[in-house]
Amino acid sequence: MTQVALRVNGMDRTAEVDAGTLLVELLREQLGLTGTHVGCDTSQCGACAVLVDGRSVKSCTAFALDVEGASVTTIEGLSTNGQLHPMQAAFKEHHGLQCGFCTPGMVLSAVDLASRMKNPSEADVRKWLDGNLCRCTGYHNIVRAVQAGVREMGG
Ligand code: FES
Ligand code: FES
Repeated sequence: MTQVALRVNGMDRTAEVDAGTLLVELLREQLGLTGTHVGCDTSQCGACAVLVDGRSVKSCTAFALDVEGASVTTIEGLSTNGQLHPMQAAFKEHHGLQCGFCTPGMVLSAVDLASRMKNPSEADVRKWLDGNLCRCTGYHNIVRAVQAGVREMGG
């Protein structure tokens, strides 16, 4: 076992992991951050997406040891003082979720998009979310929510 040290949702955390421990396992099983979901075994669904130094990463594809020293944001760390993050609020307002299973990954991927594009088109959003699957909504409202959230975040 090796100690890994990182910042998670603004707090310094350490954990003992082995070489094969995945970031999603560290987050869910050792740090108790179960808002990061596991929807597949094949790196396809994006339910496990988190931000690593501001960039969305499928946490089932990253080893815990690879994020040594990084700053990780999970869905639990997005709101501030009980207020939804603008992207979370946009998903709520535009009915961008049903069961909510895919939502943490969708929201965090969308936050990353907002740091890259000021006014993404529908096609831009659909292309960006290519790696995030939803079994419920048919994507229409998700796309609207992401566009609105990006606008709220100021691009
Ligand atoms: S659980 Fe990571 S992509 Fe599906
Ligand atoms: S809202 Fe149910 S999987 Fe997306």
